[in-house]
Amino acid sequence: MSPHVIRPDGDPVGRCDRSLTVTVDGMPVAGVHGQTLATVLLGDGRSHWRTATTGSPRGVFCGIGVCFDCVATVNGVADVRLCRRPARDGDTVATQTRLAGETK
Ligand code: FES
Repeated sequence: MSPHVIRPDGDPVGRCDRSLTVTVDGMPVAGVHGQTLATVLLGDGRSHWRTATTGSPRGVFCGIGVCFDCVATVNGVADVRLCRRPARDGDTVATQTRLAGETK
């Protein structure tokens, strides 16, 4: 067993993970309360969810809300930093693509 995996009944802090589901480009993705949307997507095996104007993939770079590499559209709001946004059950995430020449 990984030292990072703590069973709920053995957690000295008393944490009790509650599951949640977000939708990413129409696909359900499972997470737990307390995660950011970025960690939910990373936990699902996704390394990127935005395409830069150069065409290169972008995901988490700084992880602390500084670089804006991790932005996506959340519940219809564009350019949300997923590394700073707590995941909420029922959130809808849409990946973003801005190729050179596009304004939005
Ligand atoms: S990873 Fe840098 S702002 Fe989110």
